[in-house]
Amino acid sequence: MIRIKNERQIEGIRSSCDLLSLLYEKLKLQVQPGNTPKDLDRFAYDFIIKHGGKPAFLGYEGYPATLCISVNEVVIHGIPNDRPFHEGDIVGIDSGINLNGYFSDAAITLPVGSIAQETQKLLKVTRESLELAIEQVKPHARVSDISRAVFSHATKNGFKLVRQYCGHGVGLEIHEDPQIPNYVSPGPNPRLMPGMVIAIEPMINIGTSDVRVLDDDWTVVTMDGSLSAHFEHTVLVTDSGHEVLTKW
Ligand code: MF3
Ligand code: CO
Repeated sequence: MIRIKNERQIEGIRSSCDLLSLLYEKLKLQVQPGNTPKDLDRFAYDFIIKHGGKPAFLGYEGYPATLCISVNEVVIHGIPNDRPFHEGDIVGIDSGINLNGYFSDAAITLPVGSIAQETQKLLKVTRESLELAIEQVKPHARVSDISRAVFSHATKNGFKLVRQYCGHGVGLEIHEDPQIPNYVSPGPNPRLMPGMVIAIEPMINIGTSDVRVLDDDWTVVTMDGSLSAHFEHTVLVTDSGHEVLTKW
């Protein structure tokens, strides 16, 4: 069932997204050599609690942290650890907030200092594929229009899409219908309608699209150890098109 949110719910989701955007403003500055994922996770936890929210991921299906921090070949769901960031790393930060029962979800991948040219291209193309996907969002467009925009941009640039994980509806829960795959899939292909809120999240690898989950049952890494990037926004379908509710 795909929920259509009413005005009051949209205002609640908007406030949650505003708080998440403020958190990203602070977190971005902390992706520096020597800082650790646990440093960022502690900061995010304190920030969210101080502002009256709850970390939406903490405890979700047993997830043990506020943030997912996915470094280099980690695709998503990296559990924050004590390994300091190094110049040349790429650091994915994924975070969601529950503010008064309204959920936001966003992710960004940032470079630590200067990074290789191919890695810069990976970040640029992944970010662009999210932007192109967002341009598709308007009433009566279909989920496959989003999927196609991501897939074709990444593929044209020689990169590979992760298939095992998808975007999703969001707002009254962290994961709602519909699923938003990053490739055109044979499954259900609903139309977008005003009042829907969706999280679009391309996950793009330099090498193989294959991934595996580590023994901690969370950390998703590329099968070949190649680098992976992830960007995500929470997006509202409006009468005339869309509004991106999260900002980094
Ligand atoms: N941000 C993830 C997503 O977009 C959710 C993280 S899973 C969790 O779907 F368990 F860490 F919450
Ligand atoms: Co998400």
